Amino acid sequence: MIRDRNGADHANRAATDALSPDMVKTRADWIRAARRQVDALDARLLLQAVTRRTHAELMTRPEIALSPAEQEDLEALLRRRANGEPLAYLLGSADFYGRRFRVSPAVLTPRPETEELATRALAELARIPGKVRVLDLGVGSGVLAITLALEHPAAELVAIDLSAEALEVARLNAAALGASVRFLASDWFSALADERFHLIVANPPYIAADDPHLAGDGLRFEPRPALTDEADGLAAIRAITVAAPSHLHPGGCLLFEHGWNQGADARALLAAAGFEEAQTWRDLSGQERISRGRLA
Ligand SMILES: C[S@@+](CC[C@H](N)C(=O)[O-])C[C@H]1O[C@@H](n2cnc3c(N)ncnc32)[C@H](O)[C@@H]1O
Repeated sequence: MIRDRNGADHANRAATDALSPDMVKTRADWIRAARRQVDALDARLLLQAVTRRTHAELMTRPEIALSPAEQEDLEALLRRRANGEPLAYLLGSADFYGRRFRVSPAVLTPRPETEELATRALAELARIPGKVRVLDLGVGSGVLAITLALEHPAAELVAIDLSAEALEVARLNAAALGASVRFLASDWFSALADERFHLIVANPPYIAADDPHLAGDGLRFEPRPALTDEADGLAAIRAITVAAPSHLHPGGCLLFEHGWNQGADARALLAAAGFEEAQTWRDLSGQERISRGRLA
């Protein structure tokens, strides 16, 4: 989560590159001007969103002028993007595992490294024949739970979050994508009584409260409880690893995402909680990112 995948490198150029509606008129003019303020792909996606046109439509008719309302909307969005606001919040959606999810500032913007967590979870599910029960801790926008429900129809999904607003977004996404998931408001396992699962997945808040990245571009717009445990970055992982064994069937598995420098701590916490086969995988940039423990 620490890296800002939305890359707000261009934030500081905005002031000098302000667009002048007197000078820029057509789609082509706007895209050229917008690229001086924000990343080229972001500029195109914002232009597509404002004009409600596809990329192909914009490219084949670049001479068409934007309406005054479109110009105003685009200027406002470019200003916000140049100020570091995540693209997903401006578009109101983000893609995850080949599907489009509604996203609001109440939820973490889905990260590509979490797609790797979904892939690992699906590999675990493929090992278990028949019906399986899966729990997603900290569901956010619902990307993990919904992806697992749709990609592995034999899985019965339960998903929890502390945030009522996040649960609302996740419910809307599940309905829109046709996924069957039982959503619950819960402080980690508190609302689950003695329910047990074959697989528990989590992308918990794992940034330490004093990490300066929290105040940086991108992250400062995201819900703080989705990012930090307000402690050392391992508090949520500790709470989850300690309680998970009493919510897993024998041979059950806990799989979670963590910070690039938390792999050794994650494995130690899994071992201390009684898990066997504690294992960590690296993300595409070579950082330890996902750990798994399995019960005997
Ligand atoms: C890093 S976000 C993950 C969101 C989503 N699963 C994803 O991967 O994009 C962590 C989520 O955990 C939730 N959360 C934080 N503390 C919690 C707690 N004590 N109990 C339940 N959920 C919690 C946050 O509200 C947030 O939605």
